[in-house]
Amino acid sequence: MTIVLLGYMASGKSSVSKLLGKALKLPVVDLDHFIEEKEETTIREIFESKGEIYFRMKEHHYLKEILEKKEDIIVSLGGGTPCYAGNMELLHAYTQHTIYLQTSISEIINRVKDEKATRPLITEIADEDLPEFIGKHLFERNAFYQKATHTILTDKKSVDTLVEEIKAVLN
Ligand code: S3P
Repeated sequence: MTIVLLGYMASGKSSVSKLLGKALKLPVVDLDHFIEEKEETTIREIFESKGEIYFRMKEHHYLKEILEKKEDIIVSLGGGTPCYAGNMELLHAYTQHTIYLQTSISEIINRVKDEKATRPLITEIADEDLPEFIGKHLFERNAFYQKATHTILTDKKSVDTLVEEIKAVLN
C-alpha cells in the first residue's frame, strides 16, 4: 500500500508522515529529502542555481522513481508537487490513498512567517504581503489538492489526532 500526503507548505506533511509511519509500521519517504539526497544539494540551492522549472522536472522524475518501486510506503510530497507535470494523475495510477492535509491561510501564515529563509517560494515576499500571496497561491493550488481521495482538516489539531483521522479514512 502506498499512502501519499499532500498539502501546502507547513500543512504538517513531514511531521504527520513520520508519526503515521510509526503507527502503521511503514517506511516514510519525504520527496524533498529524496531529491536533495539524489541531487546532492538542497532544494533552496536547486531553485537558486537551476530555477523552478528544473526543480519541477526533477520532482516529477523522482516521484515516478519512488512510485515505480511499488513498495509499501508513505510518501510526503512537496507543497507544489500535486500542481505540476500531471503528478496527481501519476499518483492516482499507483494508489487510491492520496490524502490532502488542508490548512487555513491564517494558520499557514503563522507557521511560515519565521521560516521564509528556508522556503524559496516565499523568501522574497515581504511579511505584510504574505497573506495576499498565500491566499492567491492556495486558491490556485486548491484545484489540484482537491483531486486527492481524502481531505483532512488540520487546523488546531495535534499530530496524534491527524494520524488517528488518517487511519480512520484508510480503513
Ligand atoms: C514547495 C514546497 C516545498 C519544496 C519547494 C517548493 C512549493 O516543500 O518542495 O520549496 O512549491 O510549495 P514543503 O511543502 O515540504 O515545504
